[in-house]
Amino acid sequence: MDICIIGTGYVGLVTGASLAYLGNTVHCVDIDAEKIEKLKVGESPIYEPGIDELIESGLKAGRLSFTTDLDEAMLSSEIVFIAVGTPQLADGSPDLSQVKAAAQGIGRAILVSRDYRRLRIIINKSTVPVGSGNWVEMLAREQIRSLIASSALATEEKGDENSRQVLASEEKSLPFVEEISAGVSVVSNPEFLREGTAIRDTFYPDRIVIGANDERALKVLERLYRPLLDQNFDPPESINPRPSSLESVPLVTTDLTSAEMIKYAANAFLAMKISFANEIANISEQTGADIMRVMEGIGLDSRIGNSFLSAGVGWGGSCFGKDISALIQIAREYSYRPELLEAVSAVNQRQRYLPVQKLQGALKIIKGRTIGLLGLAFKPNTDDVRDAPSFNIASELLKMGARVKVFDPIAMDSFRSQHPDLDLIYAQGVEYLAADCDALVVVTEWDEFRKLDLKALFALMPGSVLVDGRNIFDPKAAHEAGFNYIGVGR
Ligand SMILES: NC(=O)c1ccc[n+]([C@@H]2O[C@H](COP(=O)([O-])OP(=O)(O)OC[C@H]3O[C@@H](n4cnc5c(N)ncnc54)[C@H](O)[C@@H]3O)[C@@H](O)[C@H]2O)c1
Repeated sequence: MDICIIGTGYVGLVTGASLAYLGNTVHCVDIDAEKIEKLKVGESPIYEPGIDELIESGLKAGRLSFTTDLDEAMLSSEIVFIAVGTPQLADGSPDLSQVKAAAQGIGRAILVSRDYRRLRIIINKSTVPVGSGNWVEMLAREQIRSLIASSALATEEKGDENSRQVLASEEKSLPFVEEISAGVSVVSNPEFLREGTAIRDTFYPDRIVIGANDERALKVLERLYRPLLDQNFDPPESINPRPSSLESVPLVTTDLTSAEMIKYAANAFLAMKISFANEIANISEQTGADIMRVMEGIGLDSRIGNSFLSAGVGWGGSCFGKDISALIQIAREYSYRPELLEAVSAVNQRQRYLPVQKLQGALKIIKGRTIGLLGLAFKPNTDDVRDAPSFNIASELLKMGARVKVFDPIAMDSFRSQHPDLDLIYAQGVEYLAADCDALVVVTEWDEFRKLDLKALFALMPGSVLVDGRNIFDPKAAHEAGFNYIGVGR
């Protein structure tokens, strides 16, 4: 199939490169020219295990291309994905300006293509509030109508004289305009990939959700996803072999609104599990229980499951916080107070400052101390630092007068460019970080931190405090190495 993807970030790039791997022709579009230039020569602008190999194979096979020109990218596409960002606004609602620009761009590109009567399926992969599918359809259609009405297209450079004349004569006809816009069909296809395991999640998803009010669109999407549903492709190298238990992937087809709600509800539930673990951790700490044993004990219950039950400094990233805020906003629009969701956020916010309290408890005075943060990314195996707890911890410590050093194996550059005003010392390795620290705080559970030789680490530091914000170390081993070890809920 011929596919256009608008937005070449974590979701768009992984989706595009994966669909090209499965044999489709994929045109990826982004407004960030620098990103596109990098991608054209096979350089990934994001860190994601396995993505380089997919980009390279797509480019080599001529099935994957990158451009800033949406009109050109949509010329032959029957499917267009919207995978642009939907960041959070100050009031908690999502900023839909990128989605709006994409929808209007699609309307325009349909006209520019001169291939009016072809069915164009717009797939919304961006996480958007309930009702946005209809809104995107309306925006694309409105754009078509208004461009025709203003005859803006007649002055376009693109297109041949003939089709311009056809348009000019037909444009006065309302049925013609309606026919063009009726060829636009919007589908919600929420994305559940996790950064760090995005390729695996794309090729071996737990389920595929398609929300559409139009049977035609549903059929096309089922065809597009057939290889994933049937699991009958040869897996890319980085995720080979396929899990032996995976024979097929369930398809959930719904109306547009339910699909949009599924995405928000899934993220809210996952965030709730982590906040729940943190709440129990805080109580465990007071009572003398060990959160690691407690969560193991409850996670083995098949009704609960053992994932997303790790206590620590809280969840972060580009999705959970903004999606829960958006869901809260939606509920309030309908005069419903979502108390559980509000608590999920509040617990998380409090949890982020826990390391600072623990440092205060151990060091008494923070002012003038040197504190080292192990990790900046919101989770391991990504360079994504959006809404990462590291920001709250670092800012609070700076505010309290500490000297703050940081190290992350991958996310240093992205953190520095996202927070240029933070007066941090960026260390080039764990040894440099620890060298003059009174205390270390584990913020991200990178594998290379788990493997650290605690005795050697202790020997490097003048201080002895180790706040393990992700419970990655064995408390006994840390104590034996000489550390004043402080975990979360243990
Ligand atoms: N990152 C995740 O783990 C994840 C997982 C599931 C769902 N989502 C959702 O998917 C969407 C995309 O997330 P992301 O993390 O990939 O975002 P991102 O910020 O990494 O990427 C968005 C890209 O869109 C581009 N863009 C913006 N406006 C554009 C336009 N008009 N035309 C072309 N390109 C444009 C930006 O330049 C950027 O490269 C969001 O709604 C997010 O909530 C993200």
